[in-house]
Amino acid sequence: MTDTQKTAQLSLNGETYELPIFSPTAGPDVLDIRKLYAQAGVFTYDPGFTSTASCDSTITYIDGNEGILLHRGYPIDQLAGKSHYLEVCYLLLYGELPTATQLEDFETRVTRHTMVHEQMHNFFRGFRRDAHPMATMVGVVGAMSAFYHDSTDIADPWQREVAAIRLIAKLPTIAAMAYKYSIGQPFVYPRNDLDYAANFLNMCFSVPAEDYVVDPILARAMDRIFTLHADHEQNASTSTVRLASSSGANPFACVAAGIACLWGPAHGGANQACLEMLKEIGSVDRIPEYLERAKDKNDPFRLMGFGHRVYKNTDPRAKVLKQSADEVLELLGVEDNPLLQVAKELEQTALNDPYFIEKKLFPNVDFYSGIILEAMGFPTSMFTPIFALSRTVGWVSQWKEMIGDPQNKIGRPRQLYLGETTRDYVDIENR
Ligand code: CMC
Repeated sequence: MTDTQKTAQLSLNGETYELPIFSPTAGPDVLDIRKLYAQAGVFTYDPGFTSTASCDSTITYIDGNEGILLHRGYPIDQLAGKSHYLEVCYLLLYGELPTATQLEDFETRVTRHTMVHEQMHNFFRGFRRDAHPMATMVGVVGAMSAFYHDSTDIADPWQREVAAIRLIAKLPTIAAMAYKYSIGQPFVYPRNDLDYAANFLNMCFSVPAEDYVVDPILARAMDRIFTLHADHEQNASTSTVRLASSSGANPFACVAAGIACLWGPAHGGANQACLEMLKEIGSVDRIPEYLERAKDKNDPFRLMGFGHRVYKNTDPRAKVLKQSADEVLELLGVEDNPLLQVAKELEQTALNDPYFIEKKLFPNVDFYSGIILEAMGFPTSMFTPIFALSRTVGWVSQWKEMIGDPQNKIGRPRQLYLGETTRDYVDIENR
C-alpha cells in the first residue's frame, strides 16, 4: 500500500475533513476512511461492498473492465495453459512460483496429508444418504477442528502451515467421500501414486470390484477446472472466511463458513443451477422464452452463469472453460451434446441482446464448467463441492495473509439503523 500524500476533502456540516488516498500497484485509488467516524461522527453506507476495499492483499488482482485475472501477477490463461493446480497452490500460498525442489517438497507434503482420520468415516455415516454433498462438506470440514486440534492454534505459524496443507490435501478426499456416501458406494482411499486431480477422479469413480484407470486427458481437464477456481480475491465466500477468522476462530471453522457461503446460487451454487437451467431449456427453440423471462423484472428468473459483480467485459476463466468444454466433449465422443448446443446458442443470443449488452452481462466461470463436469460423469450436486475444494487454497491463502497482517482487527461493520427508537415495554394484556 503506497501512501501517495494525496488526499480527498469531505465537507460536512461546515467542517472539512482530509481523507488520505492510497494507491495500489494496480487498480483504482482507495480512500482511507478509517478515522472518519472518530473525526466526523458519520459512517459510510455500502451494502454489498460495491465500493469498499475490505482489506489490502497481494494475492489476486482482477480488472473487471479489461477481463484480467492475475494470481501474484501471473495471468490466469497462462497459469491454466502452462502450470498445474498444485503449482498454482504454491504460488498463491507463498507468493512465488516454486523451484523444482520446492514444488516436489510441496507436492509430497500435500500428498502425505490426503487421508482423513479413520474415525471421520463414522462421522459421515451420521448424515442422511440423500444429503446434498455441500451439506455434508460444511459439517465435515467444520468437524476437522475436532479431529485435528493440533493445528488449530492460529498464533503458532507452524500449526497454521499444517492446517493449510491439511485443508488443501483433505478437501478432495472429503468431497469424494460425500459423493460416495450419497450414492451408497464404499469410500475409496486416496492413492499417493496419482497426482492431485487423478487421485480425486479415482476416489470419485473407482469401486473395489473392478479396475479403474484414470484417463490422463480427463485428469488434465479436472486439474484445469481446479486451477481456474483457485482464488478470486475478496468474493463473498473469501470475505466470509476472512470475517470468521477475524474473531480468531480456527481455520477449519472458517473454511466451513466459506463453504456455506459458496453454496448459494448467486455464488458457487450457480454451476449446478446453470446446468439445471440448460436442461430445463432443453432445446435451442426455447431460448427466446427464457431470455424474455430473464429480462422480465416481475420474474425472479435470472440467466444462471451470466453476470458478475466485477467482470463487465469478459470473465477470462469462462473463455478457457469454453475451449476446454469443446476438447473434453470431443475426447468423450459427445461433441454433439445437446446441452453444449443450447449453451453456445444461448451465449450468442444473449451477447447480441440489448438488455445483456447494456447491463454488461457475460458468461461467467459457472457457464461452461457444469457441461464439462457432467460429461466427466459428475452429478450436478457435485459441481459446487468441486468448486469448494478448488477454492480452498484461495481461502487458506487469504486467511494466512490476514493472520500474518499486524493490522488485523476483528471485522465489525456498522449499520444505518431504521428501526424504532426507544419505547416502553407494554405488558401482554395491554397489547
Ligand atoms: N440474468 C438477468 N439479469 C441479470 C443477471 C442475470 N444473470 N445478472 C444481473 N442481471 C441484471 C439485474 O437484474 C440488474 O438489473 P437492474 O439494474 O435493472 O436492476 C443488473 O443486471 C445488475 O445486477 P445486480 O444483481 O445488481 O449485480 P450484482 O453485481 O449484485 O450481481 C451476480 C452479480 C453474479 C450475483 C448476478 O449477475 C447474478 O445473479 N448472476 C447469476 C448467478 C451467477 O451466475 N452467479 C455466479 C457468479 S460467478 C462465480 C461466483 O462468484 O461464484
